[in-house]
This record gives sequence, structure tokens and C-alpha cells, in this order.
Amino acid sequence: MSDDSELAGLLEGLRRRLADLPGLDAAGLEEAHREILGRKSGQLTEVLKRLPQLAPEARRTVGAAANTLRLEFEAAFEARRAELRATAAQAASSGIDLTMPGRGRWIGGEHPATQVMEEILGIFRSLGFTIAVGPEAETERYNFGALNFPADHPAMDMHDTLYLDLPPAGEEGRWLLRTHTSPVQLRAMLASQPPIRVVAPGMVYRKDTFDPSHAPAFAQIEGLVVDEGISFVDLKATLIHFARRFFSPDTAVRFRPSYFPFTEPSAEMDVGCQLCGGKGCSACKGTGWMEILGCGMVHPAVLANGGIDPERYTGFAFGMGPQRIAMLRYAVPDIRLFYEGDMRFLEQFRGGRGAGGQTK
Ligand code: PHE
Repeated sequence: MSDDSELAGLLEGLRRRLADLPGLDAAGLEEAHREILGRKSGQLTEVLKRLPQLAPEARRTVGAAANTLRLEFEAAFEARRAELRATAAQAASSGIDLTMPGRGRWIGGEHPATQVMEEILGIFRSLGFTIAVGPEAETERYNFGALNFPADHPAMDMHDTLYLDLPPAGEEGRWLLRTHTSPVQLRAMLASQPPIRVVAPGMVYRKDTFDPSHAPAFAQIEGLVVDEGISFVDLKATLIHFARRFFSPDTAVRFRPSYFPFTEPSAEMDVGCQLCGGKGCSACKGTGWMEILGCGMVHPAVLANGGIDPERYTGFAFGMGPQRIAMLRYAVPDIRLFYEGDMRFLEQFRGGRGAGGQTK
């Protein structure tokens, strides 16, 4: 009698441990298995071993309960073992952890100078300009002479210009890397008759060493309009429109007299400093203004060199440096940042404005 109630009590105590199994790790689980179902001294094994000592009646009821509990333990141990195996396999298989956050895909972006270039070209495209291109290796005639530079102009000096080590092109003079995009003016005039409205982007080269505001290779955008009746009013209206669209609708604009051999009259266009709003700061050297381009009415001699009758047609031209304009807009202190490919700098412009503020 005392034997069967003792065993029934033991079974009840063991049953409570079923609930612990799902929380055990692999080592704890095997330890619990030894304690409960171990062949030699498992507690449930002991109960089963003592069953034959019971009276037949008690043997049946306690035996049934003990065997049911054994089956339940076997199932519970197996279930927890399978669970632990699955977790271990997941960790081992090529380190895939489904709970880890996704890894972002790296997507490149347009270089800030390219973005600004495209945006400027987009504004002129919307005004009916088309894109023209010219070669980076030019002759003295296209780069200087036909643009009305006097033969002794200092820009032609070996000191300022990168000449190519090639036999001269006869009448055209020596070969050089173009120092500006203005030779494309001539090429555009020689390629077609007015009306002409072109913008010409491209790289230009000068014998400068890298410093915060100079680079030996930099970008320019040239513009040329030739038609009957084109006046300085057209030049001003076009360039003011450009500045207000590129910067902001209330940007202040001014023209200062200047000199270029290929335009007459010539001017330089300034916009109100984008950083201080015109009050004067270190970026605008206290003037409140930033110079963004050179421009002027195409010199009659240049029209003639382009095969266009200067008695009938007039035109205006302009040239700007998109990298310099990007520096002014984004307060970039050193032009060399555009050439270094430093991702910490470039990443700031990823997904930038692109053409006319549209995503590309
Ligand atoms: N070519 C000039 C420069 O490089 C800029 C310019 C272009 C000025 C067209 C007037 C007209 O400085």
C-alpha cells in the first residue's frame, strides 16, 4: 500500500518537470534525460523497475501512469532535441541568420560636377539650345587666332598653355590642348548658318598646378547665339533667366564690363553670394557677389572667321565653369575635392538635384 502511493507521488513530481524541457539547452537537456530516463538510475526508470513489487491491482494503475509518463517524456525530449538541432543547423549553414536586418545595396550616384553640368545644360535645352561638341586637341588658329587673339597674347605662351609634341598643322599653327571651349563657337558657325543656338560642354586644359581654386583640367560650358537682330538685351535676358532658374528666382544679378578678344562689348556676370545672401562673407571675399561667367557680343571678326556675314547677323556668347558654379552653390572650399574620388565627399551629393531638380 505505502509502496504504490509513494510511486504515484514520485510520478506526480516527475510530471512537473515536463514543462521545463523546452527551456533547456543541449547540455541541460541531456543531463535531465540522464536524471529521469537514464538506464541505470533515472528516476522514472527506477519507478518502472519497482512496479513488479506492487500488488497486481496497483501495478496496473501505477504501471499505466508510469508508462504514459515515459512516453510523454520521450516525446518531449525528442521534440526539444529536434528544435536544438534545427537552430544549430541554421547557424552553421553559411551564416544565414534570418533575424538579421537586410543589407542595403550600394548604388552609385552622379558626380556633383556632372549633376551641375547636366542641370545647366537642361536649362539651356529648355530654351531651345542644342548641344555642340568640339575636339580637346585644337590648333592655335581655332583656340586663339580665329578668335581674334593678337599673335602675342600671353595666353599663347608656353608658360600658360599645354602644347602637344606634334608637327604643326601648317597655317593652322601648333597643336595644343584647348584652353577654353570658345573654339567650339567657330566650329558651330562653320557647321551651320544662323539661327544658331548651342551650348558646348567639355574639358579644357591650362598649365596650372592643383591648388584650392585651380586645376590643370577643368570643365567649361560655352554658349553661342547668332541670328538677325540679336542684341545685348538678348544676352542679358537669357543669362539672367539662367541664373534665376539655376540659383533661385530672387537671385540678384549684375554685369561688369570686361575684356575678351572674341567679344565686344564683353562682360562678366556676378550673382548675389549664395552663402551670405549678399551681406559679405569669406566665400565672396566680403563683396556680396560671386562671379559665375564671362560673356559678350560676338566680335564681327569672329563671325567672319566662322563664315557668317557680320553685316547681317549679330550674336552673343558666354562661357562658364560648372565646377566653380558647383563650388559656389554647395560651398565647396577646394576644387581638388572634385578630382579625389573621396567617397565621404561624393556621398553627400548622391541622389542630388540632377537635371533641373528632377530625379534621373
Ligand atoms: N572663353 C572665356 C574663358 O575661358 C569665357 C568666355 C566665353 C567669355 C564666351 C566670353 C564669351 O575665360
